[in-house]
Amino acid sequence: MFEFSLTARSGRARTGLLLTPHGEVQTPLFMPVGTLGSVKGISPQELQEIGSQIILGNTYHLLLRPGPERVQRLGGLHGFAAYPGPWLTDSGGFQVMSLGHLRRISEEGVVFQSHLNGDLIELSPEKSVWVQEALGADILMAFDECPPYPASREYMRDSIERTLRWLERCLRAKTRPDQALFAIAQGGVDLELRRLSTEATARFDTPGYAIGGLAVGEPKEGMYPAVELSTRLLPERKPRYLMGVGHPEDLVASVGLGVDMFDCVYPTRTGRFGYALVPEGRMNLKLSKHLDDPNPIDPGCDCYTCQHFSRAYLSHLVRAEEMLGLRMLSLHNLRYLHRLMESARAAIQAQAYGEFAQDFAGKRFGPEV
Ligand code: GUN
Ligand code: ZN
Repeated sequence: MFEFSLTARSGRARTGLLLTPHGEVQTPLFMPVGTLGSVKGISPQELQEIGSQIILGNTYHLLLRPGPERVQRLGGLHGFAAYPGPWLTDSGGFQVMSLGHLRRISEEGVVFQSHLNGDLIELSPEKSVWVQEALGADILMAFDECPPYPASREYMRDSIERTLRWLERCLRAKTRPDQALFAIAQGGVDLELRRLSTEATARFDTPGYAIGGLAVGEPKEGMYPAVELSTRLLPERKPRYLMGVGHPEDLVASVGLGVDMFDCVYPTRTGRFGYALVPEGRMNLKLSKHLDDPNPIDPGCDCYTCQHFSRAYLSHLVRAEEMLGLRMLSLHNLRYLHRLMESARAAIQAQAYGEFAQDFAGKRFGPEV
């Protein structure tokens, strides 16, 4: 039911085809984040129109609300959220750290206080797998600990070992054969710890592997060597997922290092803040220079937003805090990342990824236009 095959290579970049019970996806790809079972403001029909292939849901949020058993009774994420294509769920550990009020971390798991009503809730490898089985995604993530940046070396080492024991428990707890569980390597930006974690994680022979513990506030110079080492150590024939990374330049660089999958709230969040992703960088629709501009955000973009709306109108909507503006910017930003990955796949298939990456970098002016 799960099969990953490589279809082309260019340098270390590769294209692949991942089969899941709810459809096949082409890699490298970007996964929109649908934390609560919805990609904020975007309908399943729109997701399909812009070329989304797989949506990410979150154990932490869906456990708190509306609850995994309710989602299961109502058809799992595919039915309840009416997105019939592939889903992936994150395991919850990372979100407990970033959102919940963490109370205790122990060998057993974590106890945290809900950010909604203060209830004390436990999450363990077994419970995370149980929740993810009820949610019904095609790909489940192992329950891990993502230490904050910076963390002491001693803490990191203990944490890595605990995450490996948790991985073993996740695999033992898993019951459904129609779901694939991906392991997550940690290790921050310390290359020795990264190697230790990645080599030990790869020995579990799971259907896919994630590179976790990055994009947590470390400098970029730290992230790339960690990604580079990870893709060298992970098995060639399994998909590699770099978690929480979604800036266009990071996608292009990481695909060049052999990463296959990404997710990030960046395109939707930055859209809600009034920014549009464009080849030159990021367009700030709140700047008054856009108020009289009849052009689309990006004349080269085929999305609904660019086909129908001017920068002037979008700029007006953003200033007036109209829902439509934020929604249309999110839609464009997601399409931008999907097009970026489509072009990356085409370049790899043409054995020209190096030129593609160079061309991409050459168009960029800096952060804001
Ligand atoms: N999302 C971003 N980084 C991580 C990570 O290290 N682990 C998990 N589970 N989710 C993430
Ligand atoms: Zn567009």
